[in-house]
Amino acid sequence: MSVPIVHTVADLRAAVAGWRAEGATVAVVPTMGALHDGHLSLVRAALARADRVIVTLFVNPRQFNSAADLAAYPRTEREDAAKLGAVAAHLLYAPTPEAMYPPGFATTVSVQGQTQGLCDAHRPGHFDGVATVVTKLFLQTGADLAFFGEKDFQQLQVVRRLVRDLDIPTRIVGCETVREADGLALSSRNLRLSAAERAIAPKLAEVLFRAARELSAGAAPGPLLAAGRDAILAAGFREVEYLEFRAEDDLAPVVAPDQPARLLAAVWLGETRLIDNVGIPARAGHMAE
Ligand code: PAF
Repeated sequence: MSVPIVHTVADLRAAVAGWRAEGATVAVVPTMGALHDGHLSLVRAALARADRVIVTLFVNPRQFNSAADLAAYPRTEREDAAKLGAVAAHLLYAPTPEAMYPPGFATTVSVQGQTQGLCDAHRPGHFDGVATVVTKLFLQTGADLAFFGEKDFQQLQVVRRLVRDLDIPTRIVGCETVREADGLALSSRNLRLSAAERAIAPKLAEVLFRAARELSAGAAPGPLLAAGRDAILAAGFREVEYLEFRAEDDLAPVVAPDQPARLLAAVWLGETRLIDNVGIPARAGHMAE
């Protein structure tokens, strides 16, 4: 069965209005397409919690820092629609860039705090692009629930902050990162890895999980992060953009001992940028150095 596709806000709203008239609850799973099992697990989680599930597919130009990266982003709408049909999503909303950002568009949603450092330090303006499009998607769909993967943990916390701050009545549901059997976090970018790079890629998760265990056992973050960086580079990664220990809720660099925390990393493997993170339970938090 194939999923119905709409391209305009008017058609999207007509579909949602029909569901609302039946008393149905609505969830949205925002994506940029090139769907993999991680996305499909979000759709399944949404189907378990809401009567109707909309998947959005929009490669958002405002969150890319380079025109080349935007142009190279995989666009696989036909395959995506088939995958969504197979998991029985109810609607695919795929607006055009012109419809999303018509001439004269002049508004930016900008979240402070959670956006400082980590990915933002290396992709300035990225989270303004994400916050702006996600706000539009929430307002366009009027969804009760929205599902996001924890792999993009900073993005998840930025979105949580923005719905709280703007009183957007969409509840944000974070879902655990889906991993390959060898630990590699699923990502559309994994498709760009050569066979040799693919063999190296799981070492990132290996380093993160090992470091998280040691932090839980009481190791000091400073030396552990330095050793983690060395281990990532020794495994064959080209660059470590960041490897940081942050408070889970506001992503502040200083972690109180009784606070849940995250270990977050962005690395380059050849020409591919990969991100990943793992959680560290509250009782194991230590002061960041
Ligand atoms: O995570 C993504 O794929 C994108 O950042 C999102 C949330 C769909 C916004 O464009």
